[in-house]
Amino acid sequence: MKSHFKFPDKIGLGTWRMGESENSKLEEINAIEEAIRLGYQVIDTAEMYANGGAEVLIGKAIKNLGYSCRDKLTLVSKVLPHNASKNGVIKACEASIKRLGCEYLDLYLLHWRGQYPFESTLEGFQNLKERGLIKHHGVSNFDVHDLKEWTAAEQSFGLQRTNGLATNQVFYALNARGVEFDLIPKLREDKVSLMAYSPLGGGDLIRHKKLQGLASTQGLSAAQLALAWVIRQENTVAIPKSVSKLRIKENWSCKDLTLSTDTLLALDQIFTPPRAKTSLSVI
Ligand SMILES: NC(=O)c1ccc[n+]([C@@H]2O[C@H](COP(=O)([O-])OP(=O)(O)OC[C@H]3O[C@@H](n4cnc5c(N)ncnc54)[C@H](OP(=O)(O)O)[C@@H]3O)[C@@H](O)[C@H]2O)c1
Repeated sequence: MKSHFKFPDKIGLGTWRMGESENSKLEEINAIEEAIRLGYQVIDTAEMYANGGAEVLIGKAIKNLGYSCRDKLTLVSKVLPHNASKNGVIKACEASIKRLGCEYLDLYLLHWRGQYPFESTLEGFQNLKERGLIKHHGVSNFDVHDLKEWTAAEQSFGLQRTNGLATNQVFYALNARGVEFDLIPKLREDKVSLMAYSPLGGGDLIRHKKLQGLASTQGLSAAQLALAWVIRQENTVAIPKSVSKLRIKENWSCKDLTLSTDTLLALDQIFTPPRAKTSLSVI
């Protein structure tokens, strides 16, 4: 059975650490514009990134390109746990939307679990949905036990599965495979999409000698091989961050790559699949 929410593509753009310095803002806006021109549809951000500064840059890029491009985008933002009470969620989302200069978010996620009961956060999400300010809701950095609790809260809240959890955004990369043991199977069972954050290991995989060597035998860069590997999972979008037009193009070129069984086995030799439960990796 298909997931009730599907991302339009397998590669999106991450924006963490954008908007932090005045000197690089122009380059970052240009990078986001280039991504949208190339066809990127999924853009990931959060109120946390540069205290809303990343959202402002995305808003400027959309404005520069003309608001007609908005309809094609899947804009994702996140609420900080300390804002995740009913009223806090509502206020935080309204502020994100204002910074983005858009009328709504496609997906709004709880960044990680905090002190507020899930029911309270869900009440906020529900209010935002009823007012057309968000289309779907999701979570981030949730392990299996968190997901079980969240789903129970949705059920007690009376949410139907078709209107329930759309995605879980977690660290998933060749050097962070723990989620394959039980979290990815659980997401599949619950028909929840996976957003793979830091799919280049935050940049570490680019410098990995064995990965570079294997990638070159395929005519690929280490980044391309790392991304193609992540998106082999069904219902998954990888959200690499880059401020370089060239690298944004390179990452986008992976969206239709399929790896051979031999390559997948070679990758398993370098980055061993999990054989037991490990705690969720976070960045
Ligand atoms: N939910 C959460 O808790 C959470 C946590 C972490 C991240 N995220 C999201 O996931 C996104 C991606 O994660 P990330 O930013 O941590 O790390 P990442 O995407 O794994 O790696 C980004 C690093 O790789 C470089 N890079 C990108 N493409 C490259 C290429 N083709 N060749 C060589 N280098 C390349 C970037 O540099 P340049 O910019 O110079 O190209 C940057 O230094 C974030 O931006 C954010 O949106 C979410």
